[in-house]
Formats: sequence, C-alpha cells, structure tokens
Amino acid sequence: MSNFKRTLITSALPYANGPVHIGHLAGVYVPADIFARYLRLKGEEVLFIGGSDEHGVPITLKAKKEGTTPQAIVDKYHGMIKDSFEKFGISFDVYSRTSSKIHHETASEIFKTLYDKGEFVEQTSGQFYDEEAGQFLADRYVTGTCPKCGFEKAYGDQCESCGTSLNATDLINPKSVLSGNVPVMKETKHWYLPLDKYEPWLKEWILEDHKEWKPNVYGQCKSWIDGGLNPRAVTRDLDWGVPVPIEGAEGKVLYVWFDAPIGYISATKELTPDWKKYWKDPETRLLHFIGKDNIVFHCIIFPSILKAEGSYNLPDNVPANEFLNLEGDKISTSRNWAVWLHEYLEEFPGKEDVLKYTLTANAPETKDNDFTWKDFQARNNSELVAILGNFVNRVLVLTNKYYEGVVPVAGKLELRDEEALATLIQLKSEIEKALDTFHFREALRLTMEMARLGNKYLADMEPWIVVKTNPERVKTVMYICLQITANLTIAFEPFLPFTMNKLRSFLNLGKLQWSELGRRDLLKAGHRVNTPELLFEKIEDDAIQRQVDKLLATKKSNELEQATVAPAKPHIEYDDFAKMDIRTGTIVAAEKVAKTMKLLKLTINTGIDQRTVVSGIAEHYEPEQIVGQRVSILVNLAPKNLKGIDSQGMILMAESKEGKLVFVEPSEAINDGAEIK
Ligand code: MF3
Ligand code: ZN
Repeated sequence: MSNFKRTLITSALPYANGPVHIGHLAGVYVPADIFARYLRLKGEEVLFIGGSDEHGVPITLKAKKEGTTPQAIVDKYHGMIKDSFEKFGISFDVYSRTSSKIHHETASEIFKTLYDKGEFVEQTSGQFYDEEAGQFLADRYVTGTCPKCGFEKAYGDQCESCGTSLNATDLINPKSVLSGNVPVMKETKHWYLPLDKYEPWLKEWILEDHKEWKPNVYGQCKSWIDGGLNPRAVTRDLDWGVPVPIEGAEGKVLYVWFDAPIGYISATKELTPDWKKYWKDPETRLLHFIGKDNIVFHCIIFPSILKAEGSYNLPDNVPANEFLNLEGDKISTSRNWAVWLHEYLEEFPGKEDVLKYTLTANAPETKDNDFTWKDFQARNNSELVAILGNFVNRVLVLTNKYYEGVVPVAGKLELRDEEALATLIQLKSEIEKALDTFHFREALRLTMEMARLGNKYLADMEPWIVVKTNPERVKTVMYICLQITANLTIAFEPFLPFTMNKLRSFLNLGKLQWSELGRRDLLKAGHRVNTPELLFEKIEDDAIQRQVDKLLATKKSNELEQATVAPAKPHIEYDDFAKMDIRTGTIVAAEKVAKTMKLLKLTINTGIDQRTVVSGIAEHYEPEQIVGQRVSILVNLAPKNLKGIDSQGMILMAESKEGKLVFVEPSEAINDGAEIK
C-alpha cells in the first residue's frame, strides 16, 4: 500500500430494477464504506464511487411487466436506492447512473477505441427472433421447458427450478415472452471480445502476481482460467442500452456487462475534471468491492477490456464477498424474500448503525452467512447496548456525578492503568492489520474488544466503591475511562459513524484522526463533557416478532402462488352438462357420522323433498355451524350407501389452493329447488 499515493474505491453498481436490501449492504456497500472511512480517517486521499446500473434485460422486462418504460423504471429505483444509501450513511463521493449522457459517451468511446484497434472479432450466428414483435430475443426473453428437470417455466438463461444455466436454444417448446409465440431462428451479427487471447496474460497477472487476493476470489478466477476462456459477445440486439457506436450496428446496444463497469469511470468523470489521476496514474490503487456473482466480470472481463484499451490502471485487489442469506433462505427480489432497506429505515428509525454493525459482525466474508432477526436483536442488546453503550453511559454519568462533567486530573498511574492503555495501542495495530487486509468482521470484533476492555476496567476498579475511601484514586480511574471513551470515537468511526457523532457530542469533542488512536490525553483535564443520553436502545421481543411474522406471511403467500391451479379438463358436450340436475337447497340438520373423521350426515331441503346426503366436510365445519347454510346440490346423482347411510345426491364445494372447502351458495335470496343451469 505504501507505494500508492491514493485509493479509488468502487462498489458494484446495483441494478435499478428493484430496491436494495441487506444482502447488498452486507456484501458490498458496508465493507466499502468502512474502508473509505478508515482511509479518510488516516488522512489518505481516497475516492469512493457508486452508481446505479440502469441497462440490461431485467430492466426492460420489469418495464414490460409494469406496463411502463425502462426509463421510468430506472428513474424510480435509482431514486429509491440513492435515498437508502444516503440514509444509511454510505459515504460515496459520487453516486451516478449509467443512463447519464457522460456514461453513454464514455462507454461508446472505449468501445470505439477497441473497435478501431481491431480488438473485437465479428461473428454472425443464429438467434431466436420474435416475428410478431419484430425483435431478437435475449435469453431472458425466451421461456420453455427445462431439458434437465422438466420445469415448464424455465428462462432461456437459467432454470430457476433446478438452477441449471441454459442457452435459450436448449429449451424444449421455447416461447417468446413478448408475444407468447414460438420464436424463429434468424441470423444476427455481433462483436466479441476474444478472451482466449488474454488467457496467457490473465494467468500471469492474476494467478502469479495476485496470489494475495482472497481465496474465494482467486479460486474462482483460477477455475475460469483453467476451464479455458472463450470469446464473449459484447453487443446485444436490444433497444435499451448504449447504442453500438459503429456503422452497421443499428438496433444493437452494448452488452450491459461491457458498459456497467465503465460506469465507475464515468462517475469519476462526473465528479471531477481531474479524473485521469484516479484512473491512469499508476500511483493510484484501484479496488473493486463486489459480491461473488460479479467476480468474473471484475477480475477477468473488465480488466481485459482495460488492458486492450491500454491506458487505464487495473485493479490492485477485488475484495469480493460471498452471499448473505435471510433466515435460512436465499435472498430473492422476485420472491420478496429480503429485508428491504427502505422498509427497515421506516421500521427502525435511527438504528442504521445497528444494522450495519450486525451485517459486519456476521459478514459473509469467507462463506455464505445467514441473517436472522434473533441474531440482530442479540447483537444490539448484548453487544451494542450491554457493552459499548453501557460503558460510555457509566463513564459519563459518573463524571457528571463526581466532577460536574469536568475531566479530572489524573494522579500517578498504577500498573492496571498502564496495562489498559497499552492494550489500546496493541488493539489499534491489530485493527489496522485486519482493515488493511479487508477482514472487516475481525476488525469490528477487535474494535469491540476496546469497549470490552473499558467495561472490564471500570468494573474491576469499582470507582463507586473506592470513591468512599480514596477519592483521589477515583480521579485517575475516571481519567483513564474518559480516555478510553474518546479513543472509541476514533476506532468505531468507520463502523458506527452516526453513533460516534452522537458520542462526540456527549464528549464535547471534535472529530479526531486515526493517528491519534491510542493516545492517553485526548480529553484534557479541565475539559467539560455533557450529560449523556443513551447511545443505543434495547430492541424488544415484539419488534423482532413483527419482522419474523412479516417474513412468515411472505413465505405463506409465496407457497400459495406456487400452488398451481388445476389445468382445464377436456371439452364436454352441452348434453353431458344438461344431464346434471343441480338445485339450490338449505341444510336443515347436520351430524357427525360415527367412527369417521371426514363425514357429516346432512339433511337438505332441496325444494323437491328433504333428503339425506353424506358429505366429506367434517374436517372443515362443525355440524351446528352449518345448519341454515344455503348450498348447491346435485340431486340426480345415483344414490350411494356410505357407512351404512343412503346418500342421495352431492353438495357442491369449492376447494381453495390451501385445500379449504367452501360452500357454493346463491348470491341472493332464492327459493330452495331453483335450477342451476
Ligand atoms: N448490476 C450488477 C449486479 O447487481 C453489478 C454491476 S457492477 C458494474 O450484479 F461494475 F458492472 F457496474
Ligand atoms: Zn430445470
């Protein structure tokens, strides 16, 4: 790091086709933000780049589904996403978007440069085409039956039932999403980046020169490279995106994964005319914060593009995270299985830091991890409240009580005091080591150790007891406690920025630099602190239960949606229908059929007569509940003996998706015996 003058931090540009959730925060934006804040605290020159990824097929599909334009979709979600990030204190220097003019220009220019240098391979191939819509179909625009598992609604790029990745041409009975028609094959020309050509260079640059990359990142790169790289199409037949800036490419746009990472460059340009310093000066360190599904694009494809262009820096590191699950299930936008940031902000106002703390403490750094509401509550109540909040509160309350808020003069330090201060310095160097190597989870654990240290020191010194016999000694103890508290405002600043603002205001203290962490004189004797409020509030069971219930409701409604409606039966002739004599009737008596679970013996007034019908609804209705119930009854069904009772007809019941049976009754008052036809 010492050979770099400055750092450019990029964070994956989220697709503007939905709001952002805790998975986004945990995987990318919280670690990137911690790192940016840490470097700023150290006084380093740093830029932190973000923005929305506004191109690609999912956005056009979403627009179609909602009957609106892609622009309207990205405007809506870009606004929401930007707002959520701001409220969570993600400290971007710029948050841009790829539908902007400057981005279109930048992406076109880079494509054009590569094209002019002859870096692309042109190739014509057959692709699905929807004749009615007059449009080529991206893989996502084709659905059909999965050749692997037989799932009938598989997408052209992936079967969501068995997870197999597919090509649209693999599907059995392919259908266009646009018209529902069977697509035809049609020739189309595209431009390919010959990744095979970069293989030897990638081998050396990643596999030899970047052995320090995280094992999950290095491993994925290695398996891609070892598997052999093929040319990748970087253009698409689509009408939403950056138009391909060359002749003979009408109706084509750049592939979203070609233009999106260039968005980092466009955003930097938007921020400063001095952007070249960040992208082309080899003394700038480039870091990409991403999730694991983005590894190949940031480690192999984008660097190959930059390498082909020739004048840009390549990433120095790509600290990608694994995935965060939610209560044991994969987070999913389409299944609404997520904790949405905009909802959290409303439901837990003022608790932005608490969520960020939980997500970092439990970050999916080396493997997928699980977010649970119970863990969230425990992290808040037994760590933030019980350790950090409790320590700070006791120190400030005692300082106010004993010294009217004025920092006392310390006497001669005892061994225990020196030890506590030395531990601070020891922890500082361990925290730095963890942060410098992107081990944020460990860094946070060590930072919490500082608060634990304070808590333990205070508990061991028992100033509230000693004060009765040795008030001079208590001055020293409280002085040390106040120094630890002031140190916490530095150490926790990258993780809990809102809370540290609050704590600094309790201490009447300005923002300090990282280099001051470990000092024993951050609060001078005579300095006055304020009376504190609580730093954190306890989160009660009912607030957690509400969240768990919300997820249960989502799960239930997903299951319902999954349950399919029975397919239509084959046609019948009218005469077949007319044979049935269905009448309105009323239940006049009902009783359980002994020794059965399902059967009720009903007496029904059919208008024609009163008759007995045995019906399998005992698990759904109590006999006394249904006397007087209006029904529809098939009166000419041949009588049948059930459990020794002659059943003369059948009442009609509708069966819900969950298997509940409900009566089919006339919608208005009508006499018994009316014909249903
Ligand atoms: N939109 C992509 C995703 O959410 C990430 C794009 S990162 C960028 O997976 F580099 F391409 F911008
Ligand atoms: Zn399948």
